[in-house]
Amino acid sequence: MTMTVDITPVTTADLPRLMELERASFGDPWSESAMAATLEIPVARAIAARSEGKIVGFVIAYLIPPEGEIADICVAPEARGRGIGCLLMRALMESCDCTQFYLEVRASNLPARRLYEKLGFQRIGLRKNYYDRPREDAVLMALSLPTATH
Ligand SMILES: CC(C)(COP(=O)(O)OP(=O)(O)OC[C@H]1O[C@@H](n2cnc3c(N)ncnc32)[C@H](O)[C@@H]1OP(=O)(O)O)[C@@H](O)C(=O)NCCC(=O)NCCS
Repeated sequence: MTMTVDITPVTTADLPRLMELERASFGDPWSESAMAATLEIPVARAIAARSEGKIVGFVIAYLIPPEGEIADICVAPEARGRGIGCLLMRALMESCDCTQFYLEVRASNLPARRLYEKLGFQRIGLRKNYYDRPREDAVLMALSLPTATH
């Protein structure tokens, strides 16, 4: 089933919904204080996908051109598999001046790894035992976008 969404900036008023999605998506969710502090960081960009006004997914990145680091992405469980994760990532990458993107992902998180591969990310390394709850390796991935030639 398709779902029409709008891509809009996240505001601090969205914090409770972000935490709902965060807790529904991760065994080791960010704390509310960490999420609130992150939204205040000047180089942090957070955008949301909204369906009929309700947030159904969001992505947070640190953008320091030419580099961007994807810090967090999640889509509501009932809204997954409809292209929203892909839409959020593309919207984020198109909305900034970064040409190099990096991220870490749990080795066992195949839906996320497939999403990043579909967008062109490639594995560049492994961080052993990077995650807790449960303990697991992180796969490091990177994407280089072509720079404009003048
Ligand atoms: C990872 C996540 C954000 C993907 O969001 P989504 O909206 O469901 O993804 P999309 O519908 O845009 O799918 C894009 C691509 O991702 C891959 N993908 C998504 N779900 C998948 C699944 N369950 N199994 C395998 N591949 C999957 C596919 O390549 C898909 O492309 P396709 O539809 O052409 O096959 C979502 O599953 C999620 O919120 N997971 C929990 C939080 C999380 O793990 N975040 C990532 C932390 S690094």
